[in-house]
Amino acid sequence: MEGRPIQDMFQAIAPRYDFLNRLLSLRRDVQWRRVLVKALRVPRDARVLDMATGTGDVALEIGRRKGISVTVWGVDFAFGMLQLGKNKIARTKYCVDIRQAQGDAFHPPFKPGGFDAVTMAFGIRNISDKKRVLKVFYEFLKKGGQLLILELTLPKIGFMKNLYFIYFQKLLPVIGKILSGSSGAYSYLPDSVRKFPSQKDFCELMREAGFEKVSYKRLTLGICTLFTGFKPENKA
Ligand SMILES: C[S@@+](CC[C@H](N)C(=O)[O-])C[C@H]1O[C@@H](n2cnc3c(N)ncnc32)[C@H](O)[C@@H]1O
Repeated sequence: MEGRPIQDMFQAIAPRYDFLNRLLSLRRDVQWRRVLVKALRVPRDARVLDMATGTGDVALEIGRRKGISVTVWGVDFAFGMLQLGKNKIARTKYCVDIRQAQGDAFHPPFKPGGFDAVTMAFGIRNISDKKRVLKVFYEFLKKGGQLLILELTLPKIGFMKNLYFIYFQKLLPVIGKILSGSSGAYSYLPDSVRKFPSQKDFCELMREAGFEKVSYKRLTLGICTLFTGFKPENKA
């Protein structure tokens, strides 16, 4: 799946998206986004592009930790997800400048070279040409800017792998289908995680796209991974 079918899928599950995220991950997703935002190294008046922003949880977490001086642009191609995010942003008690734009990850509606950081949580899995989209992120970062990507990955430890398989491949699609009303979305999820490259291979793709100081951190025994890298200071 790619492009329009993905857009339609997220459009359809948008109303149940946050609820199912919290339930199916046992609220780990909240913690994982916190780890991402903690790793964000930006100046006080930074501009951050949160690509595939969905219902805005990364943008809101940036607001919670970094506050008023940061501007976050949340971009997503599913209008329904942005709409839910808009309501959450309107209700937030944190003073942060969060703006939204509907758009595709390959064509962010901005001038290149204007962001101190690009973040993407649980979005890269949905994009087949990962190297091309990483190059787009590189292009939209300022020199020295940081890329942070959070993604679901396969656990490394043996016993966890078996448990994970039973839960993720068997139980989750059934629970997801019942609660979201979408037959495809929660079967697609384990499939897309299985097809995601290994941590080392994804780091290599980041390097090939031009990033340096590339590293990754396994979270919750590896069922989620945070990838980070920087655009070199001395290259356009
Ligand atoms: C699993 S959700 C993640 C949302 C959010 N980042 C979070 O942490 O909950 C994936 C999001 O990526 C968006 N998305 C997928 N492919 C995209 C693309 N090519 N361009 C823009 N948005 C995309 C979907 O619409 C969806 O909102």
